[in-house]
This record gives sequence, C-alpha cells and structure tokens, in this order.
Amino acid sequence: MRRFRIAVAMAALLTISVLTGCVPIEPGADIGEAGTPAPVPGSAKPAVSTTIDTSKYENVWVKAIEEVENDGRSLLRVSYPFTEHEEINARMEAVTQAFIDEYRSTAAEIEAAYQEYKAETGKEAATFVTHFRQHFDVSAADESLIFFDLVRSINTGGTGNAYVVGYIFDRRSGAELALSDLFLDESYLGRLSALTREALAKRVSKEELASDLDWVEDGTAPAAGNFDNILLRTDGTFLVRFDKYQVAAGVEGVVEVALPLDDIADLLKPEVRELLGIESEAEESGTGVIETDATFAEAEVVYAFDGARSLASSAMVLTTLSSGHSFAGPGAALLQRFGPGRQESSLWDESVNCQVVACVALTFDDGPSFYTEGLLDILKEHDVRATFFVLGTQVRIQSETVARMFREGHQIGNHTWDHPNLTNMPDDQIQEQLRLTDDLIAQLIGGPTPFLRPPYGAYNDRVLAASGLPIIFWSVDPLDWRDRDAAIVAARIMEAPVGAIILAHDIHKSTVDAVPAIIDAIRGRGIQFVTVTKLFEPQELHAQKVYISQPDTPSEQ
Ligand code: NI
Repeated sequence: MRRFRIAVAMAALLTISVLTGCVPIEPGADIGEAGTPAPVPGSAKPAVSTTIDTSKYENVWVKAIEEVENDGRSLLRVSYPFTEHEEINARMEAVTQAFIDEYRSTAAEIEAAYQEYKAETGKEAATFVTHFRQHFDVSAADESLIFFDLVRSINTGGTGNAYVVGYIFDRRSGAELALSDLFLDESYLGRLSALTREALAKRVSKEELASDLDWVEDGTAPAAGNFDNILLRTDGTFLVRFDKYQVAAGVEGVVEVALPLDDIADLLKPEVRELLGIESEAEESGTGVIETDATFAEAEVVYAFDGARSLASSAMVLTTLSSGHSFAGPGAALLQRFGPGRQESSLWDESVNCQVVACVALTFDDGPSFYTEGLLDILKEHDVRATFFVLGTQVRIQSETVARMFREGHQIGNHTWDHPNLTNMPDDQIQEQLRLTDDLIAQLIGGPTPFLRPPYGAYNDRVLAASGLPIIFWSVDPLDWRDRDAAIVAARIMEAPVGAIILAHDIHKSTVDAVPAIIDAIRGRGIQFVTVTKLFEPQELHAQKVYISQPDTPSEQ
C-alpha cells in the first residue's frame, strides 16, 4: 500500500474558505480615533460600502469593503488592517487593491460570458455567484513588530481556492520587513533547508508524500526564493509553506511543514524572540511534521503512462504515481465489452477503433460554465467528441448545456457535487456527493455517469470503494488553471502522446480559446479525438481501478 499525504494545506484552505467572517470585532470595544466610518472615494455606487471598525488588537482597526455587482451574481467582501502608521496602511491598501482589481476583472469576464450564454440560450443562471473574500488576522504583535496574515478565498463558480499571505512590519517606522530581516544573518537559509529536507524526506520514505528525494532537494535548496512563505507563530511552532509543485506532485497542493520554533530560535534576532515569547518561558516543542491518515489508492493502476513522450508537468505528477503503483498489461480478463445501461449516444463514431488507430481523449473538468456553450460550438464545428467531468452545482445552474453535451455525442462523468477533497469525507458523504450529481444528470440524459474524476485527483482506498466507479485520471496536464493563456495551453496539449487522457477545464476562457488550435495540431498528427469509453474499447472500465491513459499506442500516421 502506498501512503500519501493528501494536501494538508488544501484541507486547511478548504476550511478557511468556509470561514467567511472577518476579524472578530468586540462590539463593546472602545472606538478609537479612526473608528468612525469613513467615506470611500468612488463610493457613489450604492452597492459598495466601506467601514472602519475596531478590532480585538490594540491600535489595529478593521477596514472593510463590500461590493455586490451584476444583480448579486458577484460579491467582494474584504477586510484589511488599518493602523497608526500611514506606511503600513498604504501597503495593506495596495495589496488589497490588487486583489480587488483581480476580482473586478474576473467578475466582469464571467458576467460577459454569462450574458453571452443568456443571449444564446435564452436561459438565466439560477445561482451563479463569484465570491472574492479576504480577512486578516494578527499572528503576533508587540510595540516593535506586527505580523499580519491576509486570508483569501476565491470562488468563481464550482471551484475555489484559498491561501494565506503573511506581512511583517516594523511598528515604530512603519517599514515592511522581509523574512531575512527577522534573522541575525543568512545562515537561516541553510538551517531551514536542512530542517525541511529532513522532515520531507521522512514523509517521502514513509510514502506519505507524493515526491522523490531529488525533487525535495531542489525545492528546499538554501535560497531565499525557496523560503519566502514562512509563518512564525506564538504557539512555539513555525510553518514553512511550499508552493504547489515546489517539493511534490500537484495532487499535494501547497505543502506545509510545521516545526518547533526552538529549532531556529538561536538564529532569530532578539526582538523577534521576544515577540514570539521564546525567552519568556520554556516553550514546549511543536508537533513536528503535520500528518494525515489519507492514503493513496491501493488499487492497481491498470494502464501505464508513456512518460517519455509526456509533457514535463504531467510527467512530474505521474512519475510519482508510477513509482508507487504496480502496472499490469492489458490482461485478457479486462477485455470485455462496455456493458449496456450506461450512457451511450448514437452519435459516437462507431467506426473508430482505438486498438487500431491513434486516439486521445480530451476531457474538461469543473463545468459546465458560461464558456461551455461556446466550447460545444467549437467541438461541433470540428466534429470532435470530448468527455466532461461536471459538478452537480454547475449542472443545476446549466442543465440545458449538459443535455446538449449528451445530444451532441459527448460523454459525461461525475466530478462530485461541489468539488470537495473526497479523501477527507466519510463514506456516506462521498456517496452523497456522487448520488446528488448522478440524480440530476440522470434526469437530463436518462442514465447515471459511468465514471468518476475525483476533485484535485485526490483519492484513496476508501474513495475507490465508496464510489463504486472506475476513476479516470489523466496523463497530460497543461496547468490551464494556472496559465490563463490560450497559446501556452495549446502548446502544452498539442504534443500529447497517443493514448493520452488530456486534462483541461471549461471554466477558463483561455482554455476554450485554445481548443481550435489543439484540434488542428493533434488531427494533423493523424490522431483521433474520442470519448474516454471509446479510448479504452473494447476493454471494460472496472470499478475501483484507476485509468491514466490508453496502453496500446499505435504508431502515429
Ligand atoms: Ni476539478
């Protein structure tokens, strides 16, 4: 059995995204000088409100902005600190303004897509809402230093993400400090490197982290850029946070290492030690590495991945997968016809046989969105069949789009109701996530989904068993959620090897815009686009097995 640590950080962030409240405010607290609500520049629009209120922290006030746009379809709710220092306020305002600008441009883009969708289909979306939220916390403060954590969550439909950004200020001068300013000299980088490397290597060797030692070594090399996200705590611990892909596979999300402050206390400047209470009392050691019990799939991964021809990004994920799983060839026992009773559309091209001709499966996750109708137009124009892993929340909003997918020969898979990390859920909730989605889809197309793609690609033995469905993974990941650039996305997909399952998201305009070029390039290599079921035919997809790509790779024509 291979044990994986499924993104503790991600679980934490999902929790954070639920916490919509801002910094707790003591209602009866003394209102300071700045406690009077201030008029906001440009607040002529009634939908925008700004307030300043007291916080539970001395000399820190809460500045809050709420903005509702597009008839309530998009919501911004941010709060940020307001202090006695103009310089601190200016910085906090600037980073918050950048977040607000991102919100406005995202909300405008989604609203435009919605209006286009409405004009095309005559349908109104029931509940589509874009949320951008930010609140802050003070993780440590005294007269000389203050640490702010800005906690952000963004939801642009069925999916969202959340993250924490730390800021440190000299309270006397108002100057922003870098992490290196907290340490006596540069030797902290070597220490952090050694400590985190050791902690992560342990997790790799215990198979709790989807990574290898070279990867960890690169990501923890003693360079400031590798350690730019560190949160020092007053509870005797500190957190080192590594970006997605920095030290492990993407499935892990942001990787966090929690270590005892004592391990670095001797390198901190005296005033920082004082702030964190290190010298005032003997701190109990932290708990060390955060661990979870999430286990990665015990199930056999049936199809090998052609790593040599893969894109670098997907190879990173799949190198890890392949190192932990046993691969079996396409055994005769699997050669069964895909049974009746599952989704079948008369429009599937029966003449295509992927045992003979070169095929790939193009898949789209997280929709349908307001871009999906446009995508369906493109696919229709080019006579391409794809597979959509839809979210129940989105199906509810755009049921007609899902009905159209099916009518036009595309396949529809389950991507859960609202995109949770299933490995954190009890069995009954996993089943509820799938059942609710299936019930809606069955009403539209007359049958349930034949397979599951778990959100974040995160699954374990329990998820496999509870779902009772085959799991469809992917072998090519263009990182289209990160790089919102059609040319980049297209370039990463065009070289997909024969037999690939290609991951993409129909919730990004840039991805949809990339599709015509992708179709032309892959067709130009003599490769056909088919649905996932078609890609594996005549092999039957089995429950509790994980499918990454089609094993037989006929030579390109
Ligand atoms: Ni997803």
